[in-house]
Amino acid sequence: MAGAISQQYMLLLRPSQASFASDSCIEFRSSSSFCFSGQRSVSGWGSYFRRPVGRSGTFCRSGGSVMRVCCTIAKEVPPAAAHKAAAAPQFEEQQQQEQEQEYGSRVINFAAGPAILPANVIKKAQSELYNWRGSGMSIMEMSHRGKEFLSVIQQAEADLRDLLKIPENYEVLFLQGGATTQFSAIPLNLCTSDDTADFIVTGSWGDKAFKEAQKYCKGKVVWTGKAEKYSSIPNQSELNVTVGAKYLHICANETIHGVEYKDYPSTGNDTLLVADMSSNFCSKPVDVSKFGLIYAGAQKNIGPAGVTIVIVRKDLIGKAQPSTPIMMDYKIHSENRSLYNTPPCFAIYMCGLVFGDLLSQGGLEAIERKNVEKAELLYDAIDASEGFYKCPVEKNVRSLMNVPFTMATPEMEAQFIKEASAQGMVQLKGHRSVGGIRASIYNAMPRAGVERLVAHMKAFQARHI
Ligand SMILES: Cc1ncc(COP(=O)(O)O)c(C=O)c1O
Repeated sequence: MAGAISQQYMLLLRPSQASFASDSCIEFRSSSSFCFSGQRSVSGWGSYFRRPVGRSGTFCRSGGSVMRVCCTIAKEVPPAAAHKAAAAPQFEEQQQQEQEQEYGSRVINFAAGPAILPANVIKKAQSELYNWRGSGMSIMEMSHRGKEFLSVIQQAEADLRDLLKIPENYEVLFLQGGATTQFSAIPLNLCTSDDTADFIVTGSWGDKAFKEAQKYCKGKVVWTGKAEKYSSIPNQSELNVTVGAKYLHICANETIHGVEYKDYPSTGNDTLLVADMSSNFCSKPVDVSKFGLIYAGAQKNIGPAGVTIVIVRKDLIGKAQPSTPIMMDYKIHSENRSLYNTPPCFAIYMCGLVFGDLLSQGGLEAIERKNVEKAELLYDAIDASEGFYKCPVEKNVRSLMNVPFTMATPEMEAQFIKEASAQGMVQLKGHRSVGGIRASIYNAMPRAGVERLVAHMKAFQARHI
């Protein structure tokens, strides 16, 4: 039966109509979007089921994708019904409509972090909150060493590896203490107190990382954008990396100033590249192999506050300074699979749901395309305003995630924010250290949210010139 499955039939599959197992497989190309329930392979969408055991659930795919699914058909749908379904609006449109309805009861949240999360992820968590998958308890109540939570953390790691294509020789750690704790954990793990670590300072977070590292090694700023109020990123030719430096630290996306690396610097022979990706983690593909270490607090793009992801090359683990607190020692966390002490279970669970959602949207290439489109909408509106709105950041390094802009006076900015808030668009105030306006448009911000903001910008300008 499964081998004879037709494309028309596939369009009709809904969780209530079909259940999937791994006993028979078909390959097909769907011209329209569709959903089905079953097990998704750990290798992600668009690729074959490499392993029979994937994550169970309901998944959706956009049209044009080639898929191989292994399934058993539970119920056949008559041709007339199939025809009707094929004529129905495409799934993405439906999803968009649903999301718009969803936003009827929720604000459009432009916060820099903790920030907006995907509505479907929050609903999924809500549906599982009271009784997680038949376990009779919530994630918050179960042992972190029990088989249920182990399956959660292992799946979260597998999905993150899948998303970022993390090489085998890298460890993924789920830690606590925020990205700020990594400002000290990194020099403590990678350097002796005599080693030099270089810093490119493109904003407040890079500066904080440098100041903290100085306590544990010889920190050196090799470039700073402070004089230009952190509006640019240096070219390779402007960099003079210290010979023998243990690592070069960058902040991949400065959340406050809206400055984002598009190409990463080369470090020279043995110097490692270390990046704080807190505010653009999983917003686009990254070649992890270029880095010695990547770290990110979850609360912007991938989950709630409480968990920090560290991706570190395995050969760098195990050389921590003797005084390193046990909770900062990567070796301890690596040996214990991030379960040395009680981990932030609920935050890890939520990250896992977000990773699954990103995979079901087509992975980070697809996410990047959406992010570019959203950011272009906003930057185009700023640039087309003939100076009414100004973005201080050099065009080639403007952030896809955090869009800062200013207006003629602080009073006008306050009025803009007040009026936006009255229309359900909140958290647009720039960071207290720089003022102005900042729209954070992370992965979970729907395009419709950015369009609403752009409409407000145009209407506001029309009323004030
Ligand atoms: C780029 C960047 N790095 C580090 C931090 C500090 O993160 P945490 O509050 O998780 O310590 C932030 C927080 O906003 C950030 O945006």
